[in-house]
Amino acid sequence: MPNILIIDDEKSIRKTLAEILSYEGYKIDEASDGEEGLKKFTSNQYDVVLCDIKMPKMDGIEFLEKARLANSDVPIVIISGHGNIESAVEAVKKGAFDFISKPPDLNRMLITLRNALDKQVLVTETKVLKRKFGKVQEIVGSSLPIKKIKDTIDKVAPTEARVLITGENGVGKELVARWIHEKSNRCTAPIVEVNCAAIPSELIESELFGHEKGSFTSAIKQRIGKFEQANGGTLFLDEIGDMSLSAQAKVLRALQEGKITRVGADKDINVDVRVVAATNKNLLNEVDEKKFRLDLYHRLGVIIIHVPSLNERREDVPILVDYFLEQIANEYGQPKKEIETDAIELLGKYNWTGNIRELRNVVERLIILSGKVIKVEDIENFVEIRR
Ligand SMILES: Nc1ncnc2c1ncn2[C@@H]1O[C@H](COP(=O)(O)OP(=O)(O)OP(=O)(O)O)[C@@H](O)[C@H]1O
Ligand SMILES: [Mg+2]
Repeated sequence: MPNILIIDDEKSIRKTLAEILSYEGYKIDEASDGEEGLKKFTSNQYDVVLCDIKMPKMDGIEFLEKARLANSDVPIVIISGHGNIESAVEAVKKGAFDFISKPPDLNRMLITLRNALDKQVLVTETKVLKRKFGKVQEIVGSSLPIKKIKDTIDKVAPTEARVLITGENGVGKELVARWIHEKSNRCTAPIVEVNCAAIPSELIESELFGHEKGSFTSAIKQRIGKFEQANGGTLFLDEIGDMSLSAQAKVLRALQEGKITRVGADKDINVDVRVVAATNKNLLNEVDEKKFRLDLYHRLGVIIIHVPSLNERREDVPILVDYFLEQIANEYGQPKKEIETDAIELLGKYNWTGNIRELRNVVERLIILSGKVIKVEDIENFVEIRR
């Protein structure tokens, strides 16, 4: 039975709608203004919301904006009086599913509700599919360090402990971070990634904490930062060693107090975020050079997971090669290519400065360039051997 929330300050309208819709087989809940509506919306699960525009305390537009932040999927249908069609149109632009005017035409309302429910079913199905197929890629490897890392992930993931992941480029730090989220109690909420090295230092604060409209020249719209986006979930701060000192100070505060402030705002916002960070730098060296705050280092690195380079676990090369042969063949929709044992052995001697990312690229190149079976001479021809 679909669950519908009706928010309207006029009791007579709520009663009429509730009667009709219960008769049609819907389960109904009611709220008499936006504030009460939002409380119910955030604590219960609804399939559709019907919401009036003009209401005391919190109007329909504000409700819509806040509801969008809390749960962006549930369709919200606006009920507008004749005086505020313009607001209704504005509401649709802001993400309302549709609007119906007062007094509601019974047929139109039922059709709108059915459409909204259909959409909701599709959205949910897509999410389920994404969860099924967008699964985090396996951590392949049977070497002792990989076994230890998997063990640590299993132990640490379900806790709230912050984790710092260290290791060279391409060793699989991001993969470890994704598994920590996947195996945590936060896995139904998002994992939000920020690549601190890719964002210019003057923009990093707004990226992390958001900003209010007009807080600086290019801030033409309000923006929700990554900390807020990750609320309830995990924030993955990649390349944290590249973060500016001033941003470090703010991140430290967010971690200490569980609060952030959008750039240009005077209000604090509580955030419930688990931070997982990664770096390819030696952060203690950075601390010595006064480029990284020691207090932040201690806050972030409650648990440290070091992912060793591929050269330190060469015994994983054959199993990784096999895994990538299969994965890439699947991507291309082709049968998996064979590789000779001597060829695998030769790959095992290679100096993998780019680690697993480089190995994957090499396997892909070999699949494209070699004949039916990948042989030693293919490697000699197509891979530059650095020993
Ligand atoms: N153990 C593993 N098994 C399978 N695939 C792996 C493994 N480790 C890494 N990969 C793959 O190798 C690639 C690089 O891994 P990832 O992006 O996690 O590395 P990284 O340490 O974050 O690198 P960088 O420091 O360059 O950001 C990805 O495609 C990842 O899926
Ligand atoms: Mg990475």
